[in-house]
Amino acid sequence: MQRNNNHGPASAGDGPVPVATGDGSCTLFLPQYGEHMHSLSGAYEEALLKHVRPSGILERETDSLSVLDVGFGLGYNVLALIASLLEVGYKGKLSVVSLERDRKLLPFLEQIVFSDQRDEIYSVIRSAYSKGCLRSNSLSLDILFGDARSFVRSLPDGAYDAIFFDPFSPARNPELWSFHFFREMFRLMNESAILTTYSSAPQVRGALTAVGFIIGRGPAVGGKREGTLASKTDLIAPLSKIDMAALTDNIRSVPYRDEHLSEDPGLILERRKREIRALREQRSKMHHSGTVTD
Ligand SMILES: C[S@@+](CC[C@H](N)C(=O)[O-])C[C@H]1O[C@@H](n2cnc3c(N)ncnc32)[C@H](O)[C@@H]1O
Repeated sequence: MQRNNNHGPASAGDGPVPVATGDGSCTLFLPQYGEHMHSLSGAYEEALLKHVRPSGILERETDSLSVLDVGFGLGYNVLALIASLLEVGYKGKLSVVSLERDRKLLPFLEQIVFSDQRDEIYSVIRSAYSKGCLRSNSLSLDILFGDARSFVRSLPDGAYDAIFFDPFSPARNPELWSFHFFREMFRLMNESAILTTYSSAPQVRGALTAVGFIIGRGPAVGGKREGTLASKTDLIAPLSKIDMAALTDNIRSVPYRDEHLSEDPGLILERRKREIRALREQRSKMHHSGTVTD
């Protein structure tokens, strides 16, 4: 599934184009991906309803919380996280590590206004984006700029209480949806952590399952398809046996592979297509030999 891959605003040139969304918050259309960063039904709402709330992080009662934010974008997931923790009166220390390739979004972050208490929080996030990090008694925010794949192996085992997994859609951004990248996510999560994503694509669910995650339905927001939640333990309601069997049967559940976390996205897409073709031929041979012997 692709994310809002309508053909974008008519004025889209080479650079990002700001677009208003249904809840009044702004998103960007990225011509190189042919996608908007967020759901057009509501960008901030998506951060809150698809990531922050279903991650379970707001119910945690530990003195410190650590979140990995894959694809910082405009920083809405981080904003919704901080705003929500303030709302629930969390008194501990929050550490966030964001992974983001694009360091040129500051002019867009500077235009974003909510006209409510989020503006104060967002100015802190904006400053972290321009400096790369921010430290206070209650918050540490590091934005690691570059290909997320080049950082993940250096992040510590079991360090995170939640992962907001929010790249562009699998077909446009396959390098972050591979079996091998998800294997790193599995390693980074502690036993109580939940990974949230808006995608329910079979290759994503196939990869998460192959890595060893328990997967369940994530919320459907704004009339869009449901997302996916993943955890190492039984923290989430798992997909039914019927849904899991359908996933296994679905040839499109073949995951992207990127063993060295460095492959060109075009090659990752091509390799999966070849694997699907080979599997289809194998299944068809088995089917024919089955009907002969039956
Ligand atoms: C859908 S947007 C994220 C929106 C964001 N979570 C927010 O709250 O505003 C996806 C982001 O992933 C980033 N991205 C895509 N591929 C990447 C990669 N290989 N490494 C790091 N960041 C990447 C894009 O630059 C983009 O900002």
